Amino acid sequence: MALRTNFQPKLSPFLSNPVKKDPRSPLVSVASTVRSSNRVDSSKKLFTPPREVHVQVTHSLPPQKIEIFKSLEDWAENNLLALLKPVHTNWQPQDFLPEPSSEGFYDEVKDLRERTKEIPDDYFVCLVGDMITEEALPTYQTMLNTLDGVRDETGASLTSWAVWTRAWTAEENRHGDLLNKYLYLTGRVDMRQIEKTIQYLIGSGMDPRTENNPYLGFIYTSFQERATFISHGNTANHARQYGDLRLAQICGTIAADEKRHEAAYTKIVEKLFEVDPDDTMLAFADMMRKKISMPAHLMYDGRDDNLFGNFSAVAQRLGVYTAKDYADILEHLVGRWKLEGILGLSGEGKRAQDFVCTLAPRIRRLEERAESRKTKRAEMMPFSWIFDRKVQL
Ligand SMILES: [Fe+2]
Ligand SMILES: [Fe+2]
Repeated sequence: MALRTNFQPKLSPFLSNPVKKDPRSPLVSVASTVRSSNRVDSSKKLFTPPREVHVQVTHSLPPQKIEIFKSLEDWAENNLLALLKPVHTNWQPQDFLPEPSSEGFYDEVKDLRERTKEIPDDYFVCLVGDMITEEALPTYQTMLNTLDGVRDETGASLTSWAVWTRAWTAEENRHGDLLNKYLYLTGRVDMRQIEKTIQYLIGSGMDPRTENNPYLGFIYTSFQERATFISHGNTANHARQYGDLRLAQICGTIAADEKRHEAAYTKIVEKLFEVDPDDTMLAFADMMRKKISMPAHLMYDGRDDNLFGNFSAVAQRLGVYTAKDYADILEHLVGRWKLEGILGLSGEGKRAQDFVCTLAPRIRRLEERAESRKTKRAEMMPFSWIFDRKVQL
């Protein structure tokens, strides 16, 4: 059923949407909520995103295209489900954590705290931000289940698409669990502030602008799985440099999962390019025009109005996830899907192809220019996640 938000004009699929800017800050939003005399309105505002989301377009995939996903049921079983690891042999968080039932538990915890004692605060900001992103998993499962033609219609649907989504979620669930427990045991971070941030973030949701459209949705997840692969891979390398080999192993193991998930989502999009190259190209161009938002872009800790921006700045400075990575991912996907060689596109499709195939160098140039204009003054910012200690942005 093609439902649309009632205040929206019908926008053609895959076209860039106007952006509604809202200057409200989370603090203002919450404060004004408390003062409001309208009780229904105020209680709603307390749990809506601290920042207004974009104009929300829904169900942009033409209904006849939903059939494509039905016809790919067997393909999905053979190509996607084959990429999952059996639960009985797969790793679990407990494989990397001190064993609470053992005599040596306290010594293991002591060793862990010894290892993490000297790791710098800015690294913890990155690791906590990554962990919070993983912990908002309910949002990502919800997002996948917004997609027409592939959603889990019952919660226990036996379509290959639904089986994949649940199994993917179950694999992902170990990432936040493991990082959360490890960070808790270090004693270096303010768990209560972190838990508040997770609660705010899950309550806020996310706005990936994928329009219930599996073409857009799977391009988004292809991009995101690679982004998390890069980011966890970098936190692994840093942990190794700081001498915590167990933490390096943890981040590396999570990164390997992300890589496998990236393989699955890029396979879906590769298949879409094969069966419907024109609309898949338009979808890719549309996502890139809108820019791929990070899954935790609505994060808030009850204090910092620009928490995600500040966390991203630290990740950029440490090289955990950078603007260059964004351009590299785009370039990687263009190569992975062999987009330059796709022939027989419509005029519109060819323009989209030109756009995506030449975008990465343009992003890099813009980034270099922005970087050179930046004042080199070191700005320090307190993070509630580490007891308000200040970290350079
Ligand atoms: Fe993950
Ligand atoms: Fe992931």
